[in-house]
Amino acid sequence: MGGRAIATVVVAIGTLLARALTRSRTRKGATARAGRRRRGRDAGADDELGAFVESERDATMDGRESGPLRGMKFAVKDIFDVRGRRCGFGSPAFEATAGETPKRNAECVDDVLNAGASAIGMTTMDELAYAVNGENPHYRTPINPRARNLIPGGSSSGSAVACAGALRGCDFALGTDTGGSVRIPASYCGVFGIRTSHGLVSMRGVQALAPSFDTVGWFARSIDVLRRVGDVLLPSADEHAPTKPSAWYLLEDSVSDKRSSPHAQCAAVAAVAALNEIDRGKFRRMNLTEHLLVGCPKFQALVGRREDCGLDCLREVLRVTMGAEIWENLGPWYKKEQPVLDPAVEGRLEAAAKLSPTQVELFKEIREEVRETMDRLLDNGVVLVLPTTPGKAPERGLGEKATEEWRKKCFELTCIASLCGLPQVSIPLIAPNVEGPQGLSLIGGYQTDRMLMDAARDLVVELVDAYPDILEAELLRLNPPREPGDAEKAKGNEALKKGKYQDAIEYYGVAIGKNPKNPVYVANRAMAHLKLGNYELCEDDCTTAIKLDRKYTKAYLRRATARSVGGNYLEALMDFEEALRLEPNNSDAKREVNRMKKIIGMADPGMDVGKL
Ligand SMILES: *[C@@H]1O[C@H](CO)[C@@H](O)[C@H](O)[C@H]1NC(C)=O
Ligand SMILES: *[C@@H]1O[C@H](CO)[C@@H](O)[C@H](O)[C@H]1NC(C)=O
Repeated sequence: MGGRAIATVVVAIGTLLARALTRSRTRKGATARAGRRRRGRDAGADDELGAFVESERDATMDGRESGPLRGMKFAVKDIFDVRGRRCGFGSPAFEATAGETPKRNAECVDDVLNAGASAIGMTTMDELAYAVNGENPHYRTPINPRARNLIPGGSSSGSAVACAGALRGCDFALGTDTGGSVRIPASYCGVFGIRTSHGLVSMRGVQALAPSFDTVGWFARSIDVLRRVGDVLLPSADEHAPTKPSAWYLLEDSVSDKRSSPHAQCAAVAAVAALNEIDRGKFRRMNLTEHLLVGCPKFQALVGRREDCGLDCLREVLRVTMGAEIWENLGPWYKKEQPVLDPAVEGRLEAAAKLSPTQVELFKEIREEVRETMDRLLDNGVVLVLPTTPGKAPERGLGEKATEEWRKKCFELTCIASLCGLPQVSIPLIAPNVEGPQGLSLIGGYQTDRMLMDAARDLVVELVDAYPDILEAELLRLNPPREPGDAEKAKGNEALKKGKYQDAIEYYGVAIGKNPKNPVYVANRAMAHLKLGNYELCEDDCTTAIKLDRKYTKAYLRRATARSVGGNYLEALMDFEEALRLEPNNSDAKREVNRMKKIIGMADPGMDVGKL
């Protein structure tokens, strides 16, 4: 209820912001006219999640009457050329300076139109595709329909959300993936996503980011639709290409405790369970870092003796080689136009500008070495299994600083396919009672895109079935359910620590009211009474606690203390002795037994009384 209300407010603010931006750009005369056959709708009317660019800049196109995708609807990331419409590239500054309006559609857009699918609109994205959160400060952040408080992920944020939310009847959505821009939002939004083998799907008419990494990808809610789009966009299968996985390797270094949250680890566990069902005997674990260290001497030199630095170092190789290409590609525009950009994006561009050529050269060589090693590993149909992201999406509005660490962890997983130009399919996993979807990924050898989608189809039923129980059990193990009154007990303990004994007594009182059979609540209240000098009340509480738990040493000790302060030494002695019987090594009890005995005049003559 609260979440919905907040989400509605966010949408409202987003709409206002979008209108304001449209107006200000119209004044500057920089707004491109909408694409052909725009159907004149209000911004937001059929876009409650904010996935599409504002209506002025939106575009729709009818598909052919026939073809394998006949009747389907698709959304297009605002990075693809559409005839008569300027590409936005997630950046008002870019759009305003982008030059001529394209005279033709991007090749892959035409391919799906010719296959019978109709374009329902252009989707928002991270600025210059140089981010993976989907929180573009120039536009509203699309709402993740599977987890409204979490970010959608990017840079293909709008496409993932349009598909996940079936906005305007969306069946599939086109995106691009350079460092993870399809895979990450697919994982966060709970849809299937594919990053294709580099160079396999035409990039003609697609704004480049880092050409040797850029790929076309797409999202779908079902594996069958994902596959059908692949039949249209991918070249026909090489007859020598493997059609089935020859082996499945779970990358154990992708799910180390340091790296992943329970969502990601449980995705891997579910994959093991599912593979044991469908392809037992072809499955094993592998440590990718170890494999690369053996096969790649330059990579090994980079990792050096640092512990568990394999995937971190691989991510560094991606950051540097990709950054250098991005700067080469966008630097001239950036220097000429001095555009106002998202500060985080600007920071990355500035850093990319400063990369040392020597480092870039070395890292390019490492990339080559890694790519060759991976090609050999994946030859003949080996499939790697790993979580798509290290966990569910972070919360919205955390800010760049807080998400930066997380972003790095994401790249530790996405860099593998990015560096090596390999295809990767992300399968959505959703536990109905737990917030946030999680993707499980398959990476295959170059050009095994179709095989990967078929493998995902073979795996998906068992996988999706296994995941919720595994995740729920793990979360229960990590956070056992609190007993009634536990919250108040915690507040009572806090008050006790701060010396606010009366407050503590009240909190414990509420806890006891909720759960009178819990001896800890009563014994803790006894402690607060003791501190306040309410000896009789302390004694009563201790007696109650002892009735609830005959072996409750602390209750005996507290009652004994209350009794001894009240001058009731004999009874105090009996309690201290009972405590000592329960815990023979308890030095407090030992000392007090001796002290009581001395007071009562029963002190053991052999005892070192002087120390007492
Ligand atoms: C993988 O291998 C590396 C290098 O030997 C090692 O540091 C790391 O701990 C291993 N990871 C796992 C999860 O076994
Ligand atoms: C008590 O201490 C002794 C020696 O210090 C030790 O051997 C014994 O295990 C301890 N017993 C308990 C119950 O902790």
